[in-house]
Order: sequence, then structure tokens, then C-alpha cells
Amino acid sequence: MAPAARTDPIMTCHVVAVPYPGRGHVNPMMNLCKLLTNSKPDLLITVVVTEEWLGIIGSEEKPPGICFASIPNVLPSELVRASDMPTFVGATQTKMEEPFELLLDRLDAPVNFIIADTFLYWAVEVGKRRNIPVASLWPMPASVFSVFYHFDLLERNGHHPFELSERGEERVEYIPGIPSIRLADTPSLAHMKDQRLLRLVRRIFPNVSKAQYLLISSIFELEPQVIEALKQEFSFPVHTFGPAIPYFNLRKATSFLTSQNDHDHHYFEWLNSQPPCSVLYVSLGSFLSVSSAQMDEFADGLRESGVRFLWVARGEATRLQERCGDVGRVVPWCEQLKVLCHSSVGGFWTHCGWNSTMEAIFAGVPVIAFPLTMDQTTIRKHVVEDWKMGWDAKKGLEAGNLLRSARIAELVKKLMDLECVERKEIAARAKELQKVTLQAVSEGGSSKANLTSFLDDIASFS
Ligand SMILES: *[C@@H]1O[C@H](CO)[C@@H](O)[C@H](O)[C@H]1NC(C)=O
Ligand SMILES: *[C@@H]1O[C@H](CO)[C@@H](O)[C@H](O)[C@H]1NC(C)=O
Repeated sequence: MAPAARTDPIMTCHVVAVPYPGRGHVNPMMNLCKLLTNSKPDLLITVVVTEEWLGIIGSEEKPPGICFASIPNVLPSELVRASDMPTFVGATQTKMEEPFELLLDRLDAPVNFIIADTFLYWAVEVGKRRNIPVASLWPMPASVFSVFYHFDLLERNGHHPFELSERGEERVEYIPGIPSIRLADTPSLAHMKDQRLLRLVRRIFPNVSKAQYLLISSIFELEPQVIEALKQEFSFPVHTFGPAIPYFNLRKATSFLTSQNDHDHHYFEWLNSQPPCSVLYVSLGSFLSVSSAQMDEFADGLRESGVRFLWVARGEATRLQERCGDVGRVVPWCEQLKVLCHSSVGGFWTHCGWNSTMEAIFAGVPVIAFPLTMDQTTIRKHVVEDWKMGWDAKKGLEAGNLLRSARIAELVKKLMDLECVERKEIAARAKELQKVTLQAVSEGGSSKANLTSFLDDIASFS
């Protein structure tokens, strides 16, 4: 596709943003770009995505300062990504750099600044060769960065990756900024017997120190120690700008109901008719899905619990709706942040994706943590141990075993029992963290201040 960068004379500064081609990366990058152009409307941002991603997000509503340009997919089909992560990650490391550079040459407006996902570590080299400053965007908690960045410490201390699953309860107390963490709570990549993916991911970190900025989609107040530790580590600014969720869209909430199609309307009408704090929202993530045996346990558990629920279950919605009766609704998709912010919603069963967790905090909703993979195990630790806004559904559950419906029903009933003391505690914590988050994005708050400082710097390069 021909790059669409405009040569509007008012556009003083041209930023090229390049996300890693995965949902948990593209979303925070897009949200960062929206935050930047919201604060500085004369900024021009060209977001470089693969053709596959252009197809997914190309038609979404976006501010006038943002345009897309595309490069070829790294692999022939999306199927490959789900079934063979190492091959896909490897391809993002070797197949994107050249087309990216060719594209830079074809853009109409000269490029003043590059924002690249940390996983696309080659972008730092591109910037260096062309004398363009690069900000590396880390779209996960700072703690996960610190674990990977200091992975050699784990090895030196005899915590070899492949053993982590057997020694899960052992605690590690030497990772900078992380006073104590169970090995089971380190990112799940580190537990895999097959270490190809771990090796590929570790490869990205040495390049971070060659960037000019590190941007983290977290909130300073959520993990102050580890962010301070990272600031010590690098000689350039480390900024937090979270939550990288589309909260700025909520202001348009009134136009929302009228603009939705009938199907979406339906679950919102249903939510409107439920008592306050009575609905459990359930989402187990987008593409790294759960086995259908586990899905069935969920359906049975939800039915047994008797609680009202809204469950987003993609392709399996119809089958699961039949299985779990009519106390709740199973939908293929929903606008998660708006659902979580709805007054009828009182709890969230989550896979602990970073995006989902930030949305839970933004909405001030207590959670049950059911991490599946990647950084979700570490986020579970934050939710349960550090922030105390949720419970761990996997506590005591042996790896590979199904979480049974009886246990699911028990947890769900407890979370939705507004009189339960333990529930009151985590709900109060969720509300406190909500305040912290709202503060961070307000005038003078940490995320707002960091973003402003970053924007000033970008402008100085034009
Ligand atoms: C993550 O964020 C995007 C928008 O940034 C949103 O559409 C999506 O529902 C969120 N949640 C998940 C689980 O992807
Ligand atoms: C970024 O936020 C942190 C935490 O509030 C603060 O200490 C730091 O000074 C901020 N940096 C800038 C450049 O505003």
C-alpha cells in the first residue's frame, strides 16, 4: 500500500510508530498514539503495521493526525502464529526490518522520531543508522521487563528456566525493583521446557540501552520500586504513560448507545436491567484460548453458582450459552471497558492480560485471577499479592489440571457476595487503585506529566 503521510505544512513533527504484530502490542501502541495526538493535534503519526493488522484495525475510527502504512506479513497466515509462536516471533525479528526501512524511504514527510515496540529490537539500529531518535515501548508491566532484563541473575543463582515449574513456590529476592517473587509468578515463558521462545525474547533486551527513551504502559504508582530501579539502569528517560486503554473514548459514552448495532445493544440493555454490582464479567482472553474441557467446567461452574454473569466467549458463545442456562449472557464480543465501568458489574473473572487488568483497575472492579500464559502469571502476582484486589483461582492447582466447576462456583459466589468480608477488602482496594489511576492521568499526575515531558522532547526533534 502506498504510504499516506500527508505533507501538510502545519504538521511540524512526524513520528513513525511500529508495533509488534500482536493484539497485546498493537492496542497499547495505538492508545499511546491517540494520547499523543490528543495532547498535540499538530503531530503527524504514521503507524506502520503488517498487512494483516491493517485489515484488522485499518477501518477503525482514529484521530486525523494518525495514518497507517503497511509492510508485508511476516508469515503467510495468522494460523502460524497461534500454533508456532517461536517461528512467528523469530520472523518479527528477521522479516520486518528491511521492508520497514524501504517504507521510511518512501514516506512523503521526513521522519523526526520513531516509537518501536521493544520486541522489534532492530528498530533501534534503524534509528541509529538514520540518526533518528527511538523510543522503545514496553507494553507490559515494568516488573516483567525487569525479570527478562535481569534473566542472567536467575541463571547465576541456579534458577534455571526449565526447572521453574517444579520449584514454583521458591522465592527469588534479587531481581532489581522486585523485593520478592515466587518462581511460579515469573513470566510463563521462563517455565517452558522448550526454550526457543525464551531465547528469542531475551535477544531483544541488549538493544534497549541503545534507544533514547523507554516507555512503559504502566502507572508509576502501581510499581514504583521497579520503575525506580529501571531509571537507575538506563541513562535516558524512562516514562510511564498507563493505563494504555481507550479511556478517552468513554467521554463519548452518550453517543455510544445510539451508534451500536442491535446485537451489542442487547447486552447493554440486559446490563441496564440488572441490580447494581450483581453481574460477574468473564473473559478468558483473545487468542491463546482455553481447552474446551476447561470451558465446559466454566459453563457448569457459572450455572451452579447461580450468579448473574456476562461472558465474552468468541466463537463458542452459542454452545456455552446453551450449557450455562439463562441466568447470564454469553456473547461473542463486547466493549470490555464500557462493560467493566457499568454499575451493574461487580466482579471480573480475568486471564490477567495487562490490558484487561488495567481496565479492571480503571473501573475499580475486584477480580479473580486465572492466568494462562506469558506475562499473565506475573500480573496475577501483582493483583493478588501486591495490589490485593483479587484472588488467585489457580492457588493449589497443579499445572495441567482442570479447574473444576465446583471450585469455580465457590469462587464466583464469594466474589459476588457483597456481604463477604474478604470480598469487601479486595473491592475496597480496587476502588483505591481506581483513584490512583484517575489521579495518574489527571493534570499533574504521573502518567500525564511523563507524557507531557515526552511530547515536549518529541517536538524538540522536529
Ligand atoms: C484491550 O484494548 C482494546 C482497545 O485498546 C479493547 O478493544 C479490548 O477489548 C481490550 N481487551 C482485551 C482483552 O483485548
Ligand atoms: C514521571 O513520573 C514520575 C512519577 O511521578 C516522576 O517522578 C517523574 O519526575 C516524571 N518524569 C517527568 C519527566 O515528568
